[in-house]
Amino acid sequence: MNNNPVLQISDLYVAYGSILALHGVCMEVHKGELVSICGVNGAGKSTVLKAIAGVLKPRSGSIRFKGKEVAGYKPEQLHKMGMALVPEGREIFPSLTVEENLRIGAYGRRLDKSFAADLEDLFNLFPILKERYHQAGGLLSGGEQQMLAIARGLISKPDLLMLDEPSLGLSPALVDQIFELIIELKSRNITILLVEQNAQRALAIADRAYLFANGRVEYSGQPQELMGNVDITSVYLGHNGGDV
Ligand SMILES: Nc1ncnc2c1ncn2[C@@H]1O[C@H](COP(=O)(O)OP(=O)(O)OP(=O)(O)O)[C@@H](O)[C@H]1O
Ligand SMILES: [Mg+2]
Repeated sequence: MNNNPVLQISDLYVAYGSILALHGVCMEVHKGELVSICGVNGAGKSTVLKAIAGVLKPRSGSIRFKGKEVAGYKPEQLHKMGMALVPEGREIFPSLTVEENLRIGAYGRRLDKSFAADLEDLFNLFPILKERYHQAGGLLSGGEQQMLAIARGLISKPDLLMLDEPSLGLSPALVDQIFELIIELKSRNITILLVEQNAQRALAIADRAYLFANGRVEYSGQPQELMGNVDITSVYLGHNGGDV
């Protein structure tokens, strides 16, 4: 593994008002890696992604992206630098068309010059978006909206793609599709930070994993080790680590 991670976080503290949600988190993601963050509800998974993407301002600590200190940067700046966050709950624009949603994802970063070519590539991954290109995003099914949200993240050709619970609320068949898609993105060498409560499945495809509990990194290392550790999975992931 090289010494220049795409993302390096040290001693990160994030608070909502007076309540601390992250207590000194350290983690890193290297180029081409798929890194999973697991943990129960309220562990701080979304908080860390939002802090990385600039949606939440850290109280203290360091966030280095491609070697540059970016803690406190605005989401637009980070987007331009090559970060993409696909937030929990999709958050597409329901009244805008699929095309408009995708153009927003490309905004400020390699817009138009390569938009058409990037689009063709995306349609290979998401054929449904080609069919629905001129339809309002809000008319898509839940799974299709999730695909649109991920496509919107991808169209900026991010150096770091962050996915917050992409399988949440989807039927088992669509969950399969989302995981197949993530595997395909990984095979394209896209660097991915994945938050999933579906721990078994997320760990099965991850190169490395972090387990969050109460706003701290409780464990980090090889996913196989984490899955194989009954104490950890029963205490921090509930039962057998989720979906079995
Ligand atoms: N807007 C907010 N205001 C106050 N506290 C918040 C806010 N958002 C999250 N929190 C608190 O911060 C902690 C971490 O929340 P976070 O959303 O990061 O958890 P999570 O691991 O993503 O959980 P989930 O699996 O339910 O999505 C929780 O205690 C939560 O109650
Ligand atoms: Mg969350």
